[in-house]
Amino acid sequence: PRAEKRNQKFENHLQPRASSFKVAVLGAAGGIGQPLSLLIKMSPLVSALHLYDIANVKGVAADLSHCNTPSQVLDFTGASELANSLKGVDVVVIPAGVPRKPGMTRDDLFNINASIVKNLIEAVADNCPDAFIHIVSNPVNSTVPIAAEILKQKGVYDPKKLFGVTTLDVVRANTFVAQKKNLKLIDVDVPVVGGHAGITILPLLSKTKPSVSFTDEEVEELTVRIQNAGTEVVEAKAGAGSATLSMAYAAARFVESSLRALDGDADVYECSYIQSELIELPFFASRIKLGKKGVEAVISADLQGLTDYEAKALEALKPELKASIEKGMAFAQKQP
Ligand code: NAD
Ligand code: LMR
Repeated sequence: PRAEKRNQKFENHLQPRASSFKVAVLGAAGGIGQPLSLLIKMSPLVSALHLYDIANVKGVAADLSHCNTPSQVLDFTGASELANSLKGVDVVVIPAGVPRKPGMTRDDLFNINASIVKNLIEAVADNCPDAFIHIVSNPVNSTVPIAAEILKQKGVYDPKKLFGVTTLDVVRANTFVAQKKNLKLIDVDVPVVGGHAGITILPLLSKTKPSVSFTDEEVEELTVRIQNAGTEVVEAKAGAGSATLSMAYAAARFVESSLRALDGDADVYECSYIQSELIELPFFASRIKLGKKGVEAVISADLQGLTDYEAKALEALKPELKASIEKGMAFAQKQP
């Protein structure tokens, strides 16, 4: 009977809430797409889950559809079904594109992934221009500016609803800091600002909650580990791709936060790479408050009172981030 009670509690948790949302995953058959779709299938806030990919998505959808959670799973394969996958959708997550192999930078993915993101965003603009758009495809520092330009060209750009997903940087920072300082994982929150590649990833360790003190050596070691964590996984996978499971976890957290915000929760904060006026660059990752209309506030306080180490690192990341933004914008602007 005890197990039954527990089971009942779990099932209750999975009952649909009053408001329920439609989520589309573009690239749903991939390394990130599959576990991400599973995690979204578990959300009590989702009523419909649309899975789109260029191949292999039918089986993924059939498999997921057997989970006894409330959302309905629908599959869409290939360009001819892309528009339908997006109709009526509240949140679109885009993990479509190629991942890194050892020795590559995220920018080395630009030539392939820029066109993929461009094509998908054109369809988003035509079919669900009011949706929250979550860009996972790398290089995020450039793919988000590409998406912004395409949405502008289509006359539907709402900068408050376009997000580069940098949640994995926060997830990693929280994990590594908790390990290093022997803290309870659940309590730790480290804001990560800048962008999502190498030195553009800047964890603000001095703003860690709960308040922790670090030696200079610890700051250096943790910062470098967080910046190279993606490469750590790429090397460990030795040619079989990059982070997929931790990424799915992080992207699902960002989806859940977006849905809570859409559902009227007034207390939703995440870090994300967005169009921003926080510093002189047009796109910048920082902590934001999410609301029903997207970005409700940018938390500027995190950039005040930086340590010398953080202030120098912020200056050092600007040229690379600026070049990646300009590369993305130039690509989108020269498209016919
Ligand atoms: P993967 O190769 O396993 O999966 C990619 C999927 O995209 C495949 O199923 C493929 O069929 C699909 N795809 C390709 N072109 C498409 C198109 N035009 N439309 C729809 N789907 C298309 O790769 P992965 O490991 O899932 O990684 C995907 C992307 O996410 C990569 O660019 C990777 O660098 C990036 N990534 C980002 C973060 C982050 O923190 N933002 C973390 C990890 C990976
Ligand atoms: C990550 O941070 O894990 C992703 O951006 C994938 C990569 O190429 O490192």
